[in-house]
Amino acid sequence: MRDCLRDATLAPSSSNLQTYELYWLRDPQKRSAVGDACLEQPMAETAGELVVVVSRVDLWRRNLEKLVDVMTQGGARPLTPLLNDYYGRIVPLLMRNDPLGFNNILRRCVFWYRGLRGPFIRSPVNRGDHRVYGHIQASLAAQTLMLSLAAHGYESCPIGGLDPRRIRRTLGLPGKAEVTMVIAAGRGKAKGLSGPRVRLDESDLIKEV
Ligand SMILES: Cc1cc2nc3c(=O)[nH]c(=O)nc-3n(C[C@H](O)[C@H](O)[C@H](O)COP(=O)(O)O)c2cc1C
Repeated sequence: MRDCLRDATLAPSSSNLQTYELYWLRDPQKRSAVGDACLEQPMAETAGELVVVVSRVDLWRRNLEKLVDVMTQGGARPLTPLLNDYYGRIVPLLMRNDPLGFNNILRRCVFWYRGLRGPFIRSPVNRGDHRVYGHIQASLAAQTLMLSLAAHGYESCPIGGLDPRRIRRTLGLPGKAEVTMVIAAGRGKAKGLSGPRVRLDESDLIKEV
């Protein structure tokens, strides 16, 4: 599990901000509470291990500071001017929020104005965009965890049918932390499987243009 969780942290993330956390449930009481909060679905009940994947966009500034500290080796090696501008000006412009939404208006105006002159990003503007942003990063970490579990010979199932409030309470997480999904992992058991693997026709999903 430690190898797989470490692999998961190699997932790419936007601006490398890594705004997610992976809670591997070791405590039997917490594990049981999260299993219940997954609506007692069979794979949550039968899995050897459970990992709660949490979106932590609220930690963007802390992560930014830690990242800059790592990249500069504690301030010993300055960032290149390009990275300095990116992490010092552009990332805060994209991520900062305030209760009255002034930053949303600022971002909307900047994106609109720059978009008139050529291709430019249009998001994130508001809290909804930041929530999507967070779940994207957390989902990539979740997928990387599942790929690593498969590479190590284990099976996994993502669980989105759950009670995020109860899970947040079990883990003692703040209101701004959002549960993206729970990953059930281990040796697959017949009781945990719902049926054979099926997919839509490739032509519905893959487009060559
Ligand atoms: C974000 C997400 C949430 C999911 N939530 C559940 C769930 O709550 N219960 C469940 O039985 N399967 C859940 N699944 C698993 C899907 O049903 C499953 O991946 C899909 O049916 C394809 O099956 P396969 O992955 O075995 O090929 C979820 C999958 C994803 C990606």
